[in-house]
Amino acid sequence: MERYDYIIVGSGIAGLYAALLAREQLARRGGSVLVLTKGSIDDCNTRWAQGGIAAPIGAEDSAQRHLDDTIAAGAGLVDPIAARVLAEEAADRIDDLVRLGVPFDTLHGEIALAREGAHSLPRILHAGGDSTGAHMELTLSSLAQQSNITVLEFTLATETLLEGGRVAGVRALNERSGRSTDYACRHLVLATGGAGQLYRVTTNPDVATGNGIALAYRAGAEIMDMEFFQFHPTALKLTGVQPFLISEAVRGEGGLLIDVNGVRFMPEYDDRAELAPRDIVARAILDRMQKTGADHVLLDVTGLDQARVITRFPQIYRFCLDQGLDITRRPIPVSPAAHYTMGGIRTNVWGETNIPGLYACGECACTAVHGANRLASNSLLETVIFAKRVVQRTIEAPPDSVGAEPTADAIDLSEAAPAETPSPSRQAVQSLMWDHVGIVRDGDSLSRAKATLSAWHAALPKPTDRPAHELTDLVACGRLVTEAALIREESRGAHFRSDFPQPHEEWRRHIVFRKGA
Ligand code: SIN
Repeated sequence: MERYDYIIVGSGIAGLYAALLAREQLARRGGSVLVLTKGSIDDCNTRWAQGGIAAPIGAEDSAQRHLDDTIAAGAGLVDPIAARVLAEEAADRIDDLVRLGVPFDTLHGEIALAREGAHSLPRILHAGGDSTGAHMELTLSSLAQQSNITVLEFTLATETLLEGGRVAGVRALNERSGRSTDYACRHLVLATGGAGQLYRVTTNPDVATGNGIALAYRAGAEIMDMEFFQFHPTALKLTGVQPFLISEAVRGEGGLLIDVNGVRFMPEYDDRAELAPRDIVARAILDRMQKTGADHVLLDVTGLDQARVITRFPQIYRFCLDQGLDITRRPIPVSPAAHYTMGGIRTNVWGETNIPGLYACGECACTAVHGANRLASNSLLETVIFAKRVVQRTIEAPPDSVGAEPTADAIDLSEAAPAETPSPSRQAVQSLMWDHVGIVRDGDSLSRAKATLSAWHAALPKPTDRPAHELTDLVACGRLVTEAALIREESRGAHFRSDFPQPHEEWRRHIVFRKGA
């Protein structure tokens, strides 16, 4: 069996950054790094991030202000230790990224800072205007390809191999040959991204199928906060066109939300208007769509300086123009779309899970740094902060380190119902989740979704190829989201229950699942 010091699953920004840091460490004492990725190296979710990466580097800013904003957005469930780490280590990670060659946009020789919702001041670094994720990903992937990191593309991790309760390696399926191979390692780092493909309307690419979360759950890792799925308020809504992200930074630059009757509505819902936290803006848009009987609202940037719009948002401008929409002349039809998995594999602030040797970072991980509602552009920051800490931990921790303390109250998913229904398509799962486990939820709808997902789970045959594995993992993640949403009888952050519309103090706690708990 091939043996590596590190196996990193996923080639988004978290995975590649972890791989490069591990490589740097091992260069001093010898050792090997393997990256497994189910698509090509740049086929990941983070490369589509537009707005940018938050960091408190402005003259008026401080780690404390960034921490306060993160905690306020997270609606009572942010882990303050994780959020402090995020805010305090942000500036150092930005320095690292600049050193690695990420070309952040500048203004008068200084890094330019933009504003986004629920940030108390401009704090968002961006690159290529609205192509921040792409610039970060391409910088890191070209460095990884020049290094002696082994990257196996089109190779899907399907099973965690354990020995005596510790990670011993991973089984992976080569999509081209159809063969499964076992790889041994000391440290297995999951950086597989989120599960946006759970939903019919999503800003996420096809690869966002929750593989790492499902893989970790099957291995006995704790999975936390899955009910908190973030819906981005503004995805392009044009018939026959994918729901392309229209960055929150567009509102940060002064874009206004108006309904189909031309009425600006956000001030009726929140004093911060277009710059309220994402969950509030998404629900306000949904409400306005229902009240006006339309399937969209409009994001209007026609009042802004035309040249500024084109240079600040070249990707959005070009994409819309290709669809026949000149956004400097006509408002953009938008509606909410599933965007970010705030829950995931429970880790401590060192990326350690409850299984020794198994680590997670990036969107598939859950440190509770986002709580019930992620602050805009904290996601790219999270990838580099916690990827760095994973590698630091593997270097510094004692060899018998046992990982994150288990929580006392982890619960098992209820047993799958007997198979009576045919196995579903990906589209069927997405429609069920969108219609029953979406932006506004209620107990009856969630119970129906739970029963259907449970029956689908039982009906799925053992997966043998990538599409079947992805479907199995989506159903597993769908069950985790739905069960948690049903258990949480309150509304908090991104989780809104029309039958329990208020937050309740007794629910200021996390829901954690563990198989066989
Ligand atoms: C955006 O540009 O609005 C997305 C960035 C994020 O999800 O934080």
